[in-house]
Amino acid sequence: MNKVRWGILACGKIAKKFAADLKLVGDGELLAVASRDIERAKQFASEYPAKHVFGSYEELVNCDEVDAIYVASPHSHHHEHTMLCLNHGKAVLCEKAFAINQHQAKEMIDLAKSKKIFLMEALWSRFLPHYLKVREMIAEGKLGELKGVLANFGFKPPEPVSPRLYQPELGGGSLLDIGIYPVFLAQSILGVPDSITAKMDPASTGVDEQCSMVFHYKNGMTANLFSTLAANLETDADIFGTQGRIRLTNRFYEPSATIQYYPDIITSRTVIPIEKEPGWGYQHEIRHVNECLQQGLTESPVWTLDDTFKLMQTLDAIREAMGLRYSVD
Ligand SMILES: NC(=O)c1ccc[n+]([C@@H]2O[C@H](COP(=O)([O-])OP(=O)(O)OC[C@H]3O[C@@H](n4cnc5c(N)ncnc54)[C@H](OP(=O)(O)O)[C@@H]3O)[C@@H](O)[C@H]2O)c1
Repeated sequence: MNKVRWGILACGKIAKKFAADLKLVGDGELLAVASRDIERAKQFASEYPAKHVFGSYEELVNCDEVDAIYVASPHSHHHEHTMLCLNHGKAVLCEKAFAINQHQAKEMIDLAKSKKIFLMEALWSRFLPHYLKVREMIAEGKLGELKGVLANFGFKPPEPVSPRLYQPELGGGSLLDIGIYPVFLAQSILGVPDSITAKMDPASTGVDEQCSMVFHYKNGMTANLFSTLAANLETDADIFGTQGRIRLTNRFYEPSATIQYYPDIITSRTVIPIEKEPGWGYQHEIRHVNECLQQGLTESPVWTLDDTFKLMQTLDAIREAMGLRYSVD
């Protein structure tokens, strides 16, 4: 495979950012875009040109020239759309949250494995240079023994508010949309929690407008995590241990973050330089998927399907603790 030929399924907001960053990646190209509405697909392709422009997802998955499909529909439809792509032999990069629950996630993963087709959750933060640097610093022992993570994500959506953020049938709520980032950070650094407590403040639609979570670990670590769709918060994070603290500034999950290192918890502060590239930051995950496909891999060795499944299990456990059920549960 030379250049990976990408198709985009669903022409919404994130799909535009993905298409913009795909232009920055040498070993991949946008070959096809598909929307449920051909006019929207044409509009998308006028900004992000593609050889094929489809008015249905079925036409996209039946296009022989497409190697990999980026699934950018609401989380409620990731299961259906990923299964559709895999059943037509297409490699898939599926947006987060990967699915609504672990049962859907398992079916998606099982199908990819049984067909030996590449599948990855688009957990882009896992590939960002500053996040990789944080992992390196922790592995070097810069924090001593890890004690915990504090992270928040607060985002007040501008009017008109996208229906997918609050509608239960579209997987609405803060947890699956933005709370997933603090959860990812804590779990990827501290591991799967031994127990979880969580409470939500419901929106009028019944989904969690705000979500407060505590992860408990038997070895004495703790993660305090929070997400809200009611207010813009700093959206920063602290990772701390017996020898120091790393502070990820606003916004901790994206390239705008800087790393501040406090060796003695409070005293001296060092800002760790990270080289920034132009773009939104999605080019890092895209490059990784291209490399995996060019090497004939069916799974990422960096953000594995097991990582995705465990993240989904934790999201399920949080929802169970705070009493949030979707109809597909
Ligand atoms: N990685 C990130 O940084 C990031 C950022 C934002 C969002 N996301 C994730 O990306 C996904 C999409 O988010 P978004 O903000 O791009 O949403 P969006 O702007 O609402 O776009 C979603 C698109 O999905 C398609 N769709 C298919 N079935 C639908 C249905 N029943 N109702 C509504 N739309 C439907 C529509 O495309 P067509 O009409 O063209 O078919 C729609 O434009 C979500 O899972 C979200 O969590 C990730």
